[in-house]
Amino acid sequence: MISVLASRSAWGVLTLSAGVLLLTQASSAQEIDSFSGLKISEGWLQVQATCTECHSAQLISQNSGSREVWKSRLRWMQDTQGLGQLTINLEDTILDYLASNYGQKATSRRAGIPDQLMPGNPYENAQ
Ligand code: HEC
Repeated sequence: MISVLASRSAWGVLTLSAGVLLLTQASSAQEIDSFSGLKISEGWLQVQATCTECHSAQLISQNSGSREVWKSRLRWMQDTQGLGQLTINLEDTILDYLASNYGQKATSRRAGIPDQLMPGNPYENAQ
């Protein structure tokens, strides 16, 4: 009886950890569309349909910015590059997608190399 109970709870733990593993994998792996290179999440199809007519989606995926920044890019393309007027709904969907998938980065430069990891400066004592 004890062994039956023990093996049942072992199965429980095993099933639970398998479930947790699946969940973690599903949430951490960001799926990328192999054709456009866009991250697959809500709104990506609208972005692909609206934004890849004139240039590749790479111009989008290589950029980042807050919702406001993306909005100003849209306005610039409408004012100067011939991007048409979008319905409010479509614009909202696109801006939500861009801001949450290609959002403002904390910094776009790599951190400086600490002094102790740098080679000595050969010119330091040169006159
Ligand atoms: C009517 C044509 C057209 C459409 C449609 C269009 N763009 Fe553009 N976009 C351009 C042109 C032209 C450029 C400048 C390309 C270059 O610099 O080589 C550009 C540049 C960009 C840039 C780079 C801006 C920068 O600061 O370097 C981004 C980001 C961008 N577009 C995103 C989008 C998004 C998002 C959409 C969909 C809402 C979109 N584009 C739809 C014409 C368009």
